Amino acid sequence: MKTTESIERETVSREGKPTYILAIETSCDETSVAVVADGTDILSNVVSSQIETHQRFGGVVPEVASRQHVETITFIIEEALEKAKLQPADLSAIAVTQGPGLVGSLLVGLVAAKALACALELPLIGVHHIAGHIYANQLVHKLEYPFVSLVVSGGHTELVYVESEGRFRIIGQTRDDAAGEAYDKVARALKLPYPGGPHIDRLAHEAEEGVTLPRAWLEPDSYDFSFSGLKSAVLAVLNQANMKGQPLDPQAVAKGFQDSVIDVLVEKSARAVQAFGAKQLLLAGGVAANKGLRQRLEARCAEIGVPLLAPPLSLCTDNAAMIAAAAFLKWRRGQFSALDLKAEPLLKLEGWSV
Ligand code: KG4
Ligand code: ZN
Repeated sequence: MKTTESIERETVSREGKPTYILAIETSCDETSVAVVADGTDILSNVVSSQIETHQRFGGVVPEVASRQHVETITFIIEEALEKAKLQPADLSAIAVTQGPGLVGSLLVGLVAAKALACALELPLIGVHHIAGHIYANQLVHKLEYPFVSLVVSGGHTELVYVESEGRFRIIGQTRDDAAGEAYDKVARALKLPYPGGPHIDRLAHEAEEGVTLPRAWLEPDSYDFSFSGLKSAVLAVLNQANMKGQPLDPQAVAKGFQDSVIDVLVEKSARAVQAFGAKQLLLAGGVAANKGLRQRLEARCAEIGVPLLAPPLSLCTDNAAMIAAAAFLKWRRGQFSALDLKAEPLLKLEGWSV
């Protein structure tokens, strides 16, 4: 099997210069543009977050998100090129998140990417958002196949078995809320700002003891997840305490909730790694920024003797560098997209091969 390094050298010698991919990510509420050399070297990764805009609504408002992408995208493209110290003519390809995500938001990125690809006569590469989250790890680590990836974000909670480059098999997924969604809903019940994940993470670390909450293990052999029962249990505990006039410490609620989420994520991931003979466990998605989850996974992986790979915090949440990293795999195979590439809000990961 070719290693990343050997293929990179081939690419460099074939082209005589590094492969510069400009990638655009607008699937939700971050407008991001990155320039990455040879799939691993981040020259720029500009992320313009809309969090302040959506905070007052307690969640992302799709129409507002699309409009803000339209207003910022050209400035972010210019900034990404400036920071990379490159001219448009230096680029090798344009990559863009094709889905899944909010259709209006995806469309803004796609139109911008197509315009650039067309004007600069460059290949266009459509990328699956979750493949981007998984291959964010390639920006900082050397990947070894087969691996299992735990993808935990605002819209997804999946255990993905990756047998070889770009061959994804979903072995478990949430049956209701995504982990990040549960974090955001519980945070809202605790009157914490959106997005709630980082606030719950912080509060959980301040608590001595957590309230007791259930764990959704589901069937013994299942790799699926369920978080909506846990979210309801949190709401019930809060309501009961309020009715008795004994409000609970938000820290204790945050710790109880976080412990319950992490217990299930860690145990199912460890079981999948062992059952599938994975060489590595890759953590991916916005919830991968969670300190508690990283610590507990690190410890469990040490016990079973499998390395845990996780991107730095800035590459866990939505960003375009991860899209460029996944696009580079397609670039090496010459898998380019047609200029009529469509936004796919429900794009499936299985079958989307790189
Ligand atoms: O991957 P991402 O940036 O966007 C999606 O593709 O969904 O993930 C955003 C999610 C939000 O639900 C946010 O609350 C959660 O990631 N998140 C966290 C943390 N940082 C972000 N959840 C738990 N702990 C964190 N430290
Ligand atoms: Zn994401």
